[in-house]
Amino acid sequence: MGAESFVLRGDICYSLSPREVRCVEGGYLVCVDGRSAGVFEELPERYAASPLVDCTGRLVIPGLCDIHLHAPQYAFRGLGMDLELLDWLNTHTFPEETRYADLDYAARAYDVFAGDLRRCATTRAVVFGTVHVPATELLMERLEATGLVTYVGKVNMDRNAPERLVETSARSAEATRRWLEDVCGRFERTHPIITPRFTPSVTDGLMAELGALREKYDLPVQSHLSENPSEVSWVKELCPWSSCYADAYDHFGLLGEKTVMAHCVHSTDEEVELLRRTGTYVAHCPQSNAQLASGIAPVRRYLDLGMSVGLGTDVAGGASLSMFRCMADAVAASKLRWRLVDQSLAPLTTQEALWLATVGGGSFFGRVGSFAEGYELDALVLNDSGIRTPRKLTVWERLERFVYLAEEGGRIERKFVAGREVSLD
Ligand code: GUN
Ligand code: FE
Repeated sequence: MGAESFVLRGDICYSLSPREVRCVEGGYLVCVDGRSAGVFEELPERYAASPLVDCTGRLVIPGLCDIHLHAPQYAFRGLGMDLELLDWLNTHTFPEETRYADLDYAARAYDVFAGDLRRCATTRAVVFGTVHVPATELLMERLEATGLVTYVGKVNMDRNAPERLVETSARSAEATRRWLEDVCGRFERTHPIITPRFTPSVTDGLMAELGALREKYDLPVQSHLSENPSEVSWVKELCPWSSCYADAYDHFGLLGEKTVMAHCVHSTDEEVELLRRTGTYVAHCPQSNAQLASGIAPVRRYLDLGMSVGLGTDVAGGASLSMFRCMADAVAASKLRWRLVDQSLAPLTTQEALWLATVGGGSFFGRVGSFAEGYELDALVLNDSGIRTPRKLTVWERLERFVYLAEEGGRIERKFVAGREVSLD
């Protein structure tokens, strides 16, 4: 990436830990060669010659990381929110994804998706495509052009899908190999990720092939895990040899510190221990889990265990691309869980939601999600003047309101990824 050096002046907020946020009113965030050199109350003399990006009066926060969403489902977001997972997949999702065999349709759909992702609060994302290699490569080209950093997966499915979507095991593995040869190292910001849709869609034989490809190319992995009770029972029938659902991935070398598993709503103690031990990321997707009536993941438990956790919109299980909405939903879901399910797990705070959306998910991309020295500088400049109040608020209170009221007058004015400005036009 280009060497970018400048100083951003504004009301700066970032997480020091899940519970602690540092706020500096009228502070200076220093970017040297695309990385943060720290946040200062007074600008150190040695940076006085750097160009000043004056955002006085604006909030400046780290970019938000959406570690689970589906690009092809953006086309029907907000539709069909009245079914549970397996019926929703068969009724809405698989028919839509079938359309991406048509590259003209894919181009129109992915233009809309990439444009909207570029303009929203997300700076980095972990994205599902479809089974189709040409459409997935087109998606990668469109995402590369946004300036965001993403992982993008060609989806694998060799069972339990409509005839026009399902692949044969051999073709699925071969297409993945071809895709990897095409895209590995081709882009600066857009990287491939191995993407078995979920165990019900992928035979053991294909899982083994994907495990071998992951190993050969040293690639990250994304999939779904323990989202819905019917899905979990189905996996028990499909993989009677597995000790738990996560074992049906681990057996093929698909868990680890570069794996994201979406949901983990119904994970057993054994499964949680396996995720913890392998350092696997959990993508918590609160809006999707509500819309598809999946349940509420015990995020507090995952945080207490020191597991890697971030947030995902899971579009189109979740309707909104907004990571602010996702943060607010995570807090709300945790409160309902505390009240209705388990009072031993305290609700999340808004500070913790900020940490999850920045450092929590950001760490999947490396040193990302903080303004501490050495982190890649991903930043949002937020104008909250349209969220009107007669009260005088602290910097943190202004950010807290932005999380809950972003859609009611909040504006994202500028966005930086690894020190490079992203166009919001
Ligand atoms: N499990 C398998 N496929 C999907 C999907 O597309 N969305 C969600 N939410 N869960 C899944
Ligand atoms: Fe999903």
